Amino acid sequence: MNRQIKVYIGDVKRLVGTLFFNASGNRESSGLEYSPEWIESSISFEIDPALPLGHGRVFRSKKEGSSVFHGAIADSEPDGWARQVILRAHGKHRKEKREHGISIDNSPLTSLDFLLAVDDFSRIGALRFQDESGVFQRGGGRGKRTAPPLIELDSLLRATQAVETDTETAADLEYLRGRGTSLGGLRPKCTVIDNDGSLSIGKFPSIHDSYSVTKGEVLALHVAAAAGIQAAEARIVESDGIAVALIKRFDRGPRGERIPYLSAATLLGIEDSHQVHTYTEIVDALKRYSPDYRADAEELWRRIALTILITNVDDHMRNHGFLHVEKNQWRLSPAFDINPFPDRRRVLKTWITESLGDAASIQSLMEAAPYFGIESKRACALLSTVEGAVARWRQIGKDIGMKASELNAFETAFEHVERLSARRIIGLIK
Ligand SMILES: Nc1ncnc2c1ncn2[C@@H]1O[C@H](COP(=O)(O)OP(=O)(O)OP(=O)(O)O)[C@@H](O)[C@H]1O
Ligand SMILES: [Mg+2]
Repeated sequence: MNRQIKVYIGDVKRLVGTLFFNASGNRESSGLEYSPEWIESSISFEIDPALPLGHGRVFRSKKEGSSVFHGAIADSEPDGWARQVILRAHGKHRKEKREHGISIDNSPLTSLDFLLAVDDFSRIGALRFQDESGVFQRGGGRGKRTAPPLIELDSLLRATQAVETDTETAADLEYLRGRGTSLGGLRPKCTVIDNDGSLSIGKFPSIHDSYSVTKGEVLALHVAAAAGIQAAEARIVESDGIAVALIKRFDRGPRGERIPYLSAATLLGIEDSHQVHTYTEIVDALKRYSPDYRADAEELWRRIALTILITNVDDHMRNHGFLHVEKNQWRLSPAFDINPFPDRRRVLKTWITESLGDAASIQSLMEAAPYFGIESKRACALLSTVEGAVARWRQIGKDIGMKASELNAFETAFEHVERLSARRIIGLIK
C-alpha cells in the first residue's frame, strides 16, 4: 500500500507538503516532503525539529514504542481512548457488511487509517490532512457537524459509557467517531462546542474510577491558576448527575483559528516514551525555542512545584506541550492534564535533573533553581505563591462546587510531608 496525503496548515489551508505512507505486511514507513511554496513562504517554519526546512523527503520507519510518523504528525494521532472507538467502529462496520454478504477487506487498520480517522475540525494543532481525492480527513460528511454543542453532552456521555461497558451499538460508535477521537490520551473524552462557541474537551469519568477524577482535574487546574500558572480554563458540568470536566482548547484562537501544537516529546526529539527524561532538557529546549526564555523557565519551575505539592504523578513528556508563536519560536502551552492522585507514592515521571532521580522533592527543586535561571530569593517567592494556592485547595474545591466528602478523597494528595518542607523553606514553620 502506497499513499500520498497532502499536508496543510491552518484555516487558510496552506500546503505544507506531502506525507508519504507505505505499508507492507506488518512493516510501515512514512516520509514527509515540504512543498516548494511552503519552503519559500514568508511565514514558513519547521513543523517539527526533526524536519528542517529544505527540499527532499525525510523518511521514518516504525520503531518499537514509537509512531511511524514524525512527532508533529504523531501528536495528532489517536491513542488510548480514541483508538478504541475507531477500532470498535471498524469492527462493527465489518461485521455488518459480512452479515449482509458484502465482501470485506480483512487487513488490519494501518497507522495511516488511524491518523485519518481523526476529525479534521477538531484535530489537535494546526496540521490537516487531505486524501488523494481532495477530501480533508476526516470530515463529518455532507452537512454533518462533527463537534456537537454542549447540550448534547448527555448523549456523548451515554455513548462513552456504553463503549466502556462493551454495550455500545453501531449508532453509538458512529456518533462518537467524529466526536470522541480527535485527542490523544487514555481517558474517555470528546470534543464539544461550549456555549460561548469555543472548542472544548469533555473529559468523562471512567467506570474504573474510585473517586471523582474529573472534579479532581478541574480542582488541580484552578489551584494551578491560583498559583500564577497559566492553566487551561476548566469547569465542572453535570450531565445526568455525572461530573464532566469541560476544558477549553488552547490550540484554537479567539476566532477558532488553529494554532500549531507540539508535545514536549516532539520538540525534544524523544522517540521512546519509556525512557527517562528531565525537566532540564525542557529548559534547554526553551533556551532554543522560546521568545521569552526567562518567563517560560520560571513558569516551568512553578509547574514542577505544583506537581510535587498536589501529587500529580503523571507528568510525562506528552503532558507538556508547546504552541507556535512565529518562525520556529515555541512557547509553553497552558498547563493541562494535571491531577491530584491520592494515596500515591510521590514520584516524578519527568525527573528534575538526572542526578536527582524520580524524587518529587521540594528541597531538590529549590536546589535546581539555578538550572532554570532562577535565583534563590526568587525561587522562595515563587514557592510561596504556589504553596499559598495549594494551602487553599479545600476552599478552591468548594468554590467550584465540590462537596466536603468529595474533597476528603483528595486529602492525601494535598496534605503531606512535601507541603511541610515547602512551608519550612518559605519560613512559615520551623
Ligand atoms: N486544553 C487543551 N487544549 C488543546 N489540547 C489539549 C488540551 N488538553 C489536552 N490536550 C491534548 O489532548 C491530549 C489528551 O489530553 P489529556 O492529556 O488531558 O488526556 P488523558 O487521557 O488524561 O491523557 P493521559 O494518557 O496522559 O492520561 C493531550 O496530550 C494534548 O495533546
Ligand atoms: Mg495526557
